Amino acid sequence: MVKTKLDPQKLPKHIAIIMDGNRRWARKKGLPDGKGHEAGAQNLQKIVNYCRDVGIKHLTVYALSTENWKKRSPLEVKGIFNLLMRIVKEKAEEYRKSGVKFFVLGNFQAFPLKVKRAIEKILKMAVIDEKIQFNVALNYGGRDEIVTAIKEIVKDKIPTNKIDEELVSKYLYTKDQPDPDLIIRPGGEFRLSNFLLWQMSYAELYFTDTLWPDFTPKKMEEVLYWYQDRERRMGK
Ligand code: FPP
Repeated sequence: MVKTKLDPQKLPKHIAIIMDGNRRWARKKGLPDGKGHEAGAQNLQKIVNYCRDVGIKHLTVYALSTENWKKRSPLEVKGIFNLLMRIVKEKAEEYRKSGVKFFVLGNFQAFPLKVKRAIEKILKMAVIDEKIQFNVALNYGGRDEIVTAIKEIVKDKIPTNKIDEELVSKYLYTKDQPDPDLIIRPGGEFRLSNFLLWQMSYAELYFTDTLWPDFTPKKMEEVLYWYQDRERRMGK
């Protein structure tokens, strides 16, 4: 645990982050775009550790949307895959020992074979004393997730009187995980970009101009203080 004055009773159970601004961060420094993603991946590691140490149980990050995967240049997508492979290979042992359970939201079956295999391997890894579930959204889109769930429900021939919110939630990638209480978007845009559309119903939304590679654990702590000051009404 890290030293903090945060109220452990009022921590979000699940934080979700749209990691935006990597390329702008690199361009501001006169660096190639790939360096921005590299800095973003390094920062991600710090945020995972911080969240784990402060007592957050679920962290979800948006790494590659269905749109990114289709529309970004093959070179850029390859660079992101390489970073992902580095994380799943080099960090696996550290995650295993320090209680980080890696999980994927999205259809990664469409990825190149070696990326798929590396992901499948880390997904099978048993973690000692699990502290945080770390979800990486890859080839993920909120609408696509809901369409996939509908198809599965139809395939399973679930009668209409059995279909309710709880059941639909069980057909999503996030089944068995609480909905995010807090969604953070660094990078200066005020939109959700098809992220966790079903799950975000009651989430607090936090937007900041800070670019993702500069969104340090210190900034995360400030957001958690902000979160703890909110009165959460949940529709009451
Ligand atoms: C958005 O910034 C970021 C991405 C599309 C990729 C996110 C990837 C990482 C943080 C590194 C890899 C991590 C994993 C887990 C694979 P942008 O490129 O849209 O930046 P911009 O808004 O400045 O153009």
